[in-house]
Amino acid sequence: MTTNPKLQAWVNEMAALCKPDQVHWCDGSREEYDRLCALMVKAGTFIPLNAAKRPHSFLCRSDPSDVARTEDRTFICSTSRDEAGPTNNWRDSAEMRAALKALYDGCMRGRTMYVIPFSMGPLGSAIAHIGVEISDSPYVACNMRIMTRMGKDVLAVLGDGDFVPCIHSVGAPLKPGEKDVPWPCNKDNKYIVHFPDDKSIWSFGSGYGGNALLGKKCFALRIASIMAREQGWMAEHMLILGLTSPAGKKIYVAAAFPSACGKTNLAMMNPSLPGWKLECVGDDIAWMKFGSDGRLYAINPEMGFFGVAPGTSMQSNPNALLSLQKDCIFTNVAMTPDGDVWWEGMTETEPPKLTDWQGQEWTPGCGRKASHPNARFTAPITQCPVIDANWDNPRGVPISAILFGGRRPSTIPLVFEAFNWRHGTFLGSLQSSETTAAQAGAVGVVRRDPMAMLPFCGYHMGDYLAHWLSMEEKTSSDKLPKIFYVNWFRKSAQGKWLWPGFGENSRVLKWICERVEGTGQIEETPIGKVPAKGALDTRGLEIATQDLDELLRVSKEDWRKELPGIREHYVRFGSRLPPALALELAELERKLKA
Ligand code: GTP
Ligand code: SPV
Ligand code: MN
Repeated sequence: MTTNPKLQAWVNEMAALCKPDQVHWCDGSREEYDRLCALMVKAGTFIPLNAAKRPHSFLCRSDPSDVARTEDRTFICSTSRDEAGPTNNWRDSAEMRAALKALYDGCMRGRTMYVIPFSMGPLGSAIAHIGVEISDSPYVACNMRIMTRMGKDVLAVLGDGDFVPCIHSVGAPLKPGEKDVPWPCNKDNKYIVHFPDDKSIWSFGSGYGGNALLGKKCFALRIASIMAREQGWMAEHMLILGLTSPAGKKIYVAAAFPSACGKTNLAMMNPSLPGWKLECVGDDIAWMKFGSDGRLYAINPEMGFFGVAPGTSMQSNPNALLSLQKDCIFTNVAMTPDGDVWWEGMTETEPPKLTDWQGQEWTPGCGRKASHPNARFTAPITQCPVIDANWDNPRGVPISAILFGGRRPSTIPLVFEAFNWRHGTFLGSLQSSETTAAQAGAVGVVRRDPMAMLPFCGYHMGDYLAHWLSMEEKTSSDKLPKIFYVNWFRKSAQGKWLWPGFGENSRVLKWICERVEGTGQIEETPIGKVPAKGALDTRGLEIATQDLDELLRVSKEDWRKELPGIREHYVRFGSRLPPALALELAELERKLKA
């Protein structure tokens, strides 16, 4: 419990509105976690996995209609539509509040209301912030215990201070005596709503991932991006990794790739290059504030991985798999006959028989996927074999390089460096990628996704880009991270990946490290600096010379074809497009003409 007047009043108000059977304040203890897991096993929500193979782990199958973030049901209710900008859904905040109050009235009948205090970032860190989630889902409470620092210690640090109120309901009240379903949700009414005025979050109808674990996308990105703009820091959709060269020099790198485009993979990759060491600070979100030395220091506000399962194998991402040996929650993966988990790409050969993510019998060649393409694991970050010594450091880690990237089968080279911060911001603003299963809707459609923040920026994207540009005024330019653009996904004319990716990406990281140190040979092109011939270390890598040339090729013709799309993208920002970026575009156009 708490003596914080705002928290007490808010919990009372929400309990009166939602009318749960009972209110439970989460203390964050192991005992509490075990009790909630047992409760979900009894309710059919959790299936305990084979304890000999995966101790203390559970499989959970969501409703087939509730499997990914729903961007079309996500709203930013700022004072004006213009403040939310062209890339966010907007509703008038008074109207939305009224609509939500009606929906929440009695929405927790027959359920327990969990009060979940959590800290995004190390407790008491100057970069961290506190939130409290109210939820009627024990699945959310258990996931929040893995994903955040959660429980009574947070209340002690909070004291009478301020917090971000996050209310969540699956939107499925129970009538007296009504039997619950394993995955309650509301098929007809889903709302993921953010109010910038009081920095509150209201989520209704979905129990899945970023829709329901409100510390993640709703707080740590949408609301935090608003706070960051007000307070002069950055809240970004970025992994954080530490990279040590054979000579023992260590740098920290942050990278923004859109959902399901390789952050988790890069964040804990085993470098194929001998002597190089990579360590993981975070795989999804970075909060960065300036240190007294003028450099940007990053923390991972989370404490767990909510990672994409399909494609994760001992070959592609051994450290993810090794993080999953115990104490994990698996959502929408398949189950083996001996009670373990399986997903597409986990093993070279498919098991002869499985139970699929919807509980149906599955055999190879049956025509269905055994796991959902957005099936995910929730795993404690402390179980990662390559966790960085500073993962929990309240001061954060100094960032030397920022990477942008995405899935682009053509045009974008394997790696190139921005000319400077402003040009790097320009490159980030153009970021584009094929859509993935992480969001509801079509997969494989190329969309512009500035800084991988398109679905996560809590205000006008034009102002967000201006905020990026303003970092240059806060410090001297040599203190800012160098900016790079990478693309692991370029394909040959025959549609094959040109680059082996995964651990081999260490070759690209090595060049980036050399660029940070001021060595690393470059060739200047209209779009930025690509590695000079021979500058990328390909020793021991079997790659055809023409493939390597194609990977690093900058085709003026291809880039000219990009221009109309870029102009269209910029037109959307209207008068809020920072003039500096319009100038950068004009400069690129000029270089491509020559
Ligand atoms: P969110 O958690 O949704 O924000 O995504 P993420 O960026 O952490 O995605 P993740 O690392 O889980 O990416 C998953 C997908 O990217 C899988 O299909 C991987 O196989 C693929 N992937 C990751 N790295 C590489 C790479 O270097 N090359 C290729 N070809 N695919 C990759
Ligand atoms: C993403 O979609 O970028 C994720 C998963 O990291 S979720 O938490 O569901 O948003
Ligand atoms: Mn993400």
